[in-house]
Amino acid sequence: MDQIYVIKEVLNFYEGKQGVVVCGWVRTRRDSKGFSFVEINDGSCLKNLQLVIDHGTLPLDEVKRITTGASIRAIGDIVPSPGKKQKWEMHVRKLEILGEADPNKYPLQKKRHSDEFLRKIAHLRVRTNKYGAIYRIRSRAAFLIHRFFQQRHFSYIHTPIITSSDCEGAGDLFQVIKRGEELDSFFKRPAFLTVSGQLTAEALCMGLGKVYTFGPTFRAEDSNTPRHAAEFWMVEPEMAFYDLEQDIDLAEELIKYVVSNVVKENSEDIELFTRFVDKGLLERLNRVIEEPFVRIEYSEAIFILKHADKKENFIFKPEWGEDLQTEHERYLSEKHFNLPVVVYNYPKDIKPFYMRLNDDEKTVAAMDILLPQVGEVVGGSQREERYDVLVRNIEQMGMDIEDYLWYLDLRKYGSVPHSGFGLGFDRLIMFLCSVHNIRDTIPFPRTPGTLNF
Ligand code: 4AD
Repeated sequence: MDQIYVIKEVLNFYEGKQGVVVCGWVRTRRDSKGFSFVEINDGSCLKNLQLVIDHGTLPLDEVKRITTGASIRAIGDIVPSPGKKQKWEMHVRKLEILGEADPNKYPLQKKRHSDEFLRKIAHLRVRTNKYGAIYRIRSRAAFLIHRFFQQRHFSYIHTPIITSSDCEGAGDLFQVIKRGEELDSFFKRPAFLTVSGQLTAEALCMGLGKVYTFGPTFRAEDSNTPRHAAEFWMVEPEMAFYDLEQDIDLAEELIKYVVSNVVKENSEDIELFTRFVDKGLLERLNRVIEEPFVRIEYSEAIFILKHADKKENFIFKPEWGEDLQTEHERYLSEKHFNLPVVVYNYPKDIKPFYMRLNDDEKTVAAMDILLPQVGEVVGGSQREERYDVLVRNIEQMGMDIEDYLWYLDLRKYGSVPHSGFGLGFDRLIMFLCSVHNIRDTIPFPRTPGTLNF
């Protein structure tokens, strides 16, 4: 079998080449006297490869079957293109239609389709420029995350998907039961899909030192918003011996690393979004790369928001002791600072049991990172490493201490200061592509009331 070249490789050839095989899906076809021009895309890059078909090689009747959406395999010679749009084109020697696409029925015709329409045909939208670019950026960003941690001596760990604990204590859990069986009969206790791999990541960092987990996470939040999904991907590093400041430094470094390398390595895709979706995108990404993130305490954030409320008239009034709402997060990062903002030292009563109590006994060493356009993208903290304080938290929050004996063991035997965070991967993709709805960053999104595909 001949080697199949991907279009990205072909377009980067130094010199022409004979007898090259390419495969892909047809984007457009134009017929002229004696020749047809067919643009194909194989997903390897944004650009198409132009195939020039001599009607002497393939009769016009056959060529007419090459319609938008059809899949083909072509063998030909890569030669310099006289056209301005591309450096190379293929002069086809042989072409095979692998799968036809009825032009009267194929939903993706050459016009702009709305995001809402494309969501309904999520199995096909990957074949548009926009979604192809989003998924390539998603793939790159995932790879960069691994590269970032691997270069810094982190171990990649796999934390359980089925758990018995509600790490965040918010109660937004999907329960797991065996089909057709009584509730809880399989595990003999209630089982849930994980909301976070943090607790078991903490155990592994107390031996491996620096770890990260990167996997799917599930939340049964009934919030039908553009930034919540019932199934999303989270990156969760956990570092022994790190305090809150080191935790924030690492999160900032990670975001800068991913953004700057996506800008470099997926420049064509980013350019597409900057030209056609959001003119300010590249500038915004560059600011994130170049400028230090703003760091403010929660109390200062509330002070700024209260002051701004006179003009902004927020729906939710900012109050010390209340969580920040999306409108507050966006005001801080988009309007007030126009930069990523790290808010830290939150009131203890609005945060989970595992966060380290500060000396003021009112706040915990928590941090959230807010990005312009997206809002909260990271949530993390220094963890409570003191056995007695942790026991008190568990009791005060009415949790069952029996469930956490293993977690308390970590504080009994060689406890150390440690910290970690969770980065919402899909939200980072929203930011990178200037996509305003999380449903468009996940190939097959799961949200309340929607479970298609
Ligand atoms: O702030 P969260 O809830 O933090 C945790 O779960 C910690 N246990 C993480 C840790 O410290 N290891 O979630 C972390 C991030 C949020 O900042 C947000 O970006 C994302 O996960 N996130 C969601 N993304 C999409 N849809 C949802 N329903 C999300 N809920 C949280």
